[in-house]
Amino acid sequence: MLTPSFHFNVLNDFQAVFDYQAKILVDQLEVAAAGNSEAIDTFPYIKRCALDIICETAMGTTVNAQTNHNHPYVIAVAEMNNLAFKFQRMPWLWLKPIRHLTGFEADHQRNLNIVTSFTKNVIERKTKEFEESGGVDVDGSNKKKAFLDMLIEMREDGGLVYEDLREEVDTFMFEGHDTTSAGIGWALWCLASHPEYQKRCHEELDTIFESSTRECTVDDIRKMKYLEKCVKEALRIRPSVPQFARTVDEEFEIDGTILPRGCSLLVSPAFIQNNPRTFPNHETYDPERFSEEEIAKRHAYSYIPFSAGPRNCIGQKFAMQEEKTVISWVLRRFELSSDLELLDNLPLPETIMRPTRGFPLKLTVRN
Ligand code: HEM
Repeated sequence: MLTPSFHFNVLNDFQAVFDYQAKILVDQLEVAAAGNSEAIDTFPYIKRCALDIICETAMGTTVNAQTNHNHPYVIAVAEMNNLAFKFQRMPWLWLKPIRHLTGFEADHQRNLNIVTSFTKNVIERKTKEFEESGGVDVDGSNKKKAFLDMLIEMREDGGLVYEDLREEVDTFMFEGHDTTSAGIGWALWCLASHPEYQKRCHEELDTIFESSTRECTVDDIRKMKYLEKCVKEALRIRPSVPQFARTVDEEFEIDGTILPRGCSLLVSPAFIQNNPRTFPNHETYDPERFSEEEIAKRHAYSYIPFSAGPRNCIGQKFAMQEEKTVISWVLRRFELSSDLELLDNLPLPETIMRPTRGFPLKLTVRN
């Protein structure tokens, strides 16, 4: 049911949204950087941009988080991340009374309510629009459909109840903006600490855009071969989703070890992609690891930022297109630098790979 929402035709339609929101981002960064020689934490800006993108493409709605800072949804998602990370590390929080006494439960409920009621409002509004339009074409035009529009249309055929819709939309909203903002942020961070690679990206973008400030199209995205290597290498060294889990349904053997049924299994792109046997000098950021020759030398599953197999990430093309559009806009406008080295910014494997220091970057407007 969901796959058509990510067909490349749909993604082509979304390009205008990526482009428009990326432009707002660079304008905002330019204002923040003007007359400021200090580094700016770019992470909150990137997150708000990614949130506006996912709201418009997945839900067909706008929250204008970029211009309306401190949007409660963004803050609540960040809080939920912190709480989930605490919950994983502190076994005493697994006991309900302790969760209540420490205020953890109240915090959790408050943030959960903000997240779910936000989605609930959008679903209700969209469903109403769909019903009022006679169930044909939302707003009577041939306009691109957001993911939620398609879900609402398929609701009856697919036997979906309201709660199913809400869960899907929440998954998309969450998976679709926290992951890409971490991906964009880490890529910029890697490029800021590696001026030689940043220069090559600048050259590539100058060849494509010839210093014009025109929009970024799907065709342009295809031409950004070097930038793509840089984005992929950033997703290797700092995968946005550091780990994910499975429950073993049927006992099986792996390298002579039996994994019993019911056992929990953690798959960690963060470890797999930093295995020095597959990626020598694994802590070195080197986009050439993603040249065709180097990729051919490796096992297909040695690099799995989007997981693999039938339950891999449905949004990976969307994510790459969004990342390349936003990063290309940032690099067209600015030269990036940082007082810190890549490895000075320790990654915290929360639900997403969070930078302990944010992404403090010095932005110099390019001529
Ligand atoms: C850099 C960006 C992204 C990364 C690194 C990423 C990574 C992943 C990973 C590792 C999984 C598997 C999780 C698991 O098995 O538990 C996953 C699943 C998923 N992702 Fe992404 N993702 C990204 C962006 C997106 C975007 C933009 C969307 C939607 C617009 C999205 C939607 C989903 C959905 C719906 C699933 C669940 C698929 C299923 O269970 O069948 N992701 N993603």
